[in-house]
Amino acid sequence: FDESDNISEIIEQTGAEIETGRYPLAITNNRDLYELERRRIFGRAWIYLGHVSEFAEPGDYARRYIGEDPFIVTRDETGDLHAFLDSCMHRGAQFCTAENGNTSHFRCPYHGWTYKNDGSLQGMPHMAEAYQDLDEEEISLEEAELDTYQGLVFGRIAEEGPDLEAYLGDFTWYLDVLFGTTEAGMTVVGEPHRWESDHDWKISADNFSGDSYHVLTTHQAGLETENLARGPWEELDDFPAASYLACTDRHSMGYYLSADADTYMGYPDEIADHLDDDLTAEQRELFGRSVFHFGTVFPNMSIIHGIQSGGWGGPWACIRKWNPRGPGTTETTSWWLIPREFADDESFLEDSHRGWESLSPGGAFESDDLTIWEGISESSGAVTHELRDTHGNMQQGIGAMTDEVEPIDDPLHGPAEVTSKGLYFDERNSRTMLRSWYELMREDGEGSA
Ligand code: FES
Ligand code: FE
Repeated sequence: FDESDNISEIIEQTGAEIETGRYPLAITNNRDLYELERRRIFGRAWIYLGHVSEFAEPGDYARRYIGEDPFIVTRDETGDLHAFLDSCMHRGAQFCTAENGNTSHFRCPYHGWTYKNDGSLQGMPHMAEAYQDLDEEEISLEEAELDTYQGLVFGRIAEEGPDLEAYLGDFTWYLDVLFGTTEAGMTVVGEPHRWESDHDWKISADNFSGDSYHVLTTHQAGLETENLARGPWEELDDFPAASYLACTDRHSMGYYLSADADTYMGYPDEIADHLDDDLTAEQRELFGRSVFHFGTVFPNMSIIHGIQSGGWGGPWACIRKWNPRGPGTTETTSWWLIPREFADDESFLEDSHRGWESLSPGGAFESDDLTIWEGISESSGAVTHELRDTHGNMQQGIGAMTDEVEPIDDPLHGPAEVTSKGLYFDERNSRTMLRSWYELMREDGEGSA
């Protein structure tokens, strides 16, 4: 039994089998694969780090992770954003001890080396006596590549690879609708929530990429109780008029549409007056008819945006980040965002907050999912799966079923592969995610040095 051969075999087998809708269960919660994911997925891909509204002023900073590597995202005095590895260039100590804040300088707590918030070394204690031959101009913090799209901040460890827009590809069309909706843009409200759970990051990223199939079973109890009744959804004429899955070659999402062109995800009607001029007529129409969107930007950023149901409060956008924290362990960060135009509207905020809370760890939906995800992780990590080569299944939508349900209306969609299956009996988004995983896990995958 040669461990490394075995791991490359599992990766290659996954790649070879994706189109059949079968996959080795051994890829989930696998310690050896996990170590490789840290390098090949999280070392190579663009990773979501936060939203520009969290770094509005020079000096604003927050600790964020790329894989398991701790980075400090900060806006320097000239307004540029950076992501610095939290590792002092003297002896590697973490120089930032707070989660977030505002500072012009970081002072390492070990020996006191001090850096400006543009990463350059400002000085150190007893410099003249301690050092005779040190060029402090040469020393600056290790920095990830950083770029933004529609206010979303992404970082990448690898120096080589596609730029952010190329990495996001056609999915930018949907990100425009989701995060470039209004003139003033979105803003994060409050501090993000964080919680840790015993599940492999891939499970939740996959769930958000397009799994509506689980809702009727996993969330059955929630759906059957009065206060989670469909509420406002039922007030919409003829809902859902259509539901779609869209996947590019790397990222995917699902969305529900109403026949009513003024649905706007349940936002107050005046949102129509604030729509960003850059949105195309097609993007406006999609947003106008949208009830609810969800999706995953590979690898570990997920999105839910839209209306919530009975007694749950108003609309919100929620960004999720599934931080890998060891094999079978994930720290989830969850951000609440709203269009900036509504930031001072107390009753909107109250409503929106109630909706967002339903998806916090204490919320009904979240606890349903976490129990399942932790179970998948424990069982998929079984040695049995590796030794017996057992397979999971994501065959929905392959073959005859693909043609069964036609789009209900002219498809309202962007430049992606889009299908409509009424109740989403289609696992193409899961297969897309697995393909993205395979593409980066290959030794010569994108971003390899
Ligand atoms: Fe940072 Fe020594 S490790 S000053
Ligand atoms: Fe769920």
